[in-house]
Amino acid sequence: MDLTLSTALAEVSAGLEKSETFVRLVLSGRRRNMKTPAERIDLKPVLLKSEIKYQLSQSDGRAMTTKNYSPKEFIELNLLEAGFANILLEQKSGSISIRITKKGEALVHRTSDSFEADLSHDRTKARLLDANDPFLIEVGISDESGKVKASKNDKYLQVEEFLRLLVPALNSAIEAGHIAKPTAVLPLSIVDLGCGHAYLTFAAHQYLTKQGIPVKVVGIDVRESARVRNSQIAQKLGISKSISFLAEEISQTTLQSADVAIALHACDTATDDAIAWAVNTGAKLALIAPCCHHDIQAQMVDTPEPWQMITKNGIMKERLGDLITDALRMQIMKLSGYRVEAIEFIGGEHTPRNLMIRAVKTGAIADLAEQSRYDAMISLWKVKPALAALLNR
Ligand SMILES: C[S@@+](CC[C@H](N)C(=O)[O-])C[C@H]1O[C@@H](n2cnc3c(N)ncnc32)[C@H](O)[C@@H]1O
Repeated sequence: MDLTLSTALAEVSAGLEKSETFVRLVLSGRRRNMKTPAERIDLKPVLLKSEIKYQLSQSDGRAMTTKNYSPKEFIELNLLEAGFANILLEQKSGSISIRITKKGEALVHRTSDSFEADLSHDRTKARLLDANDPFLIEVGISDESGKVKASKNDKYLQVEEFLRLLVPALNSAIEAGHIAKPTAVLPLSIVDLGCGHAYLTFAAHQYLTKQGIPVKVVGIDVRESARVRNSQIAQKLGISKSISFLAEEISQTTLQSADVAIALHACDTATDDAIAWAVNTGAKLALIAPCCHHDIQAQMVDTPEPWQMITKNGIMKERLGDLITDALRMQIMKLSGYRVEAIEFIGGEHTPRNLMIRAVKTGAIADLAEQSRYDAMISLWKVKPALAALLNR
């Protein structure tokens, strides 16, 4: 093993042994040709019956699970060498972060910043957005007394869960060098495509700003009334310098680029317009939760056998159409140099449209088998996805 890496890992191990100064450990990203046991692991100390335990939270990209270990038990899991590309250790008086490059070299960064441990063992999910926050009242999610309106609860939760996925995806993209670390001079640029009443647009702006991440956010919606309303809210909140709105068709927007493209339920093929915009402008990260799908479904007239077993039932045909639509979208993104995953971003009780396409631009060239797989799928179903037409595929 590279000497710099083994020295840095030994330093992190030693830090983990000192539970009295340990604050946080984050393991994320994947080393080349290695498989990690989870997409991301977060570790923090918790006080349980007067004893310090290490609480491990891990995500498989779909759900979060939590388990407590004694410090010794955790160290014995040997997760530091389990294939993660990014390792961050925070202690009360300093931090060390290790990024392992594709060549297996370690880039190590140390700080002497102060960190504070939060020893609470709270099983309830902490809210990311305080219902009382003025922006939630202004956009109409919360009422004047700062309570989430019953009619807006699902949207509130969708937006929160969207942020819960956006933030780690963003941090991983920054840690992996796909997105430059945002600064006041060069803030992170985000576009919300098909923003509507801009619940997510404002939430992303306010939440990331609170996290100390400088941002410049643009919301795009075809409706002029949405632009006027959202711009007035931005003005009222005093944030017009860093959030703005355009009344434009996504496919014809004047916006040239953004680091991150997000879209929550942009109707039907507006989702394809959003993905096409992200691909054409080279957005580094795209989080897209599609809406209703009609394009492929309308083309599924000549069902190949034995698939009629499914498509003869209207509801099953519809669901299969949704899956084929999103699978083709993802494959096109993959063929365009993105690493793409589909994840459930919120429970189905809050919206049936609960699939999210998460894509990071790595520039990797997909192998020929992926192109053949795509060709086979469209020829089997005799369909031409809207996204393929938009990207000339
Ligand atoms: C279902 S709403 C979702 C709004 C918002 N993202 C949310 O989750 O609350 C879809 C929005 O997309 C907008 N839209 C639909 N097609 C569009 C297009 N081609 N270009 C821009 N906006 C579009 C609509 O005006 C509408 O506001």
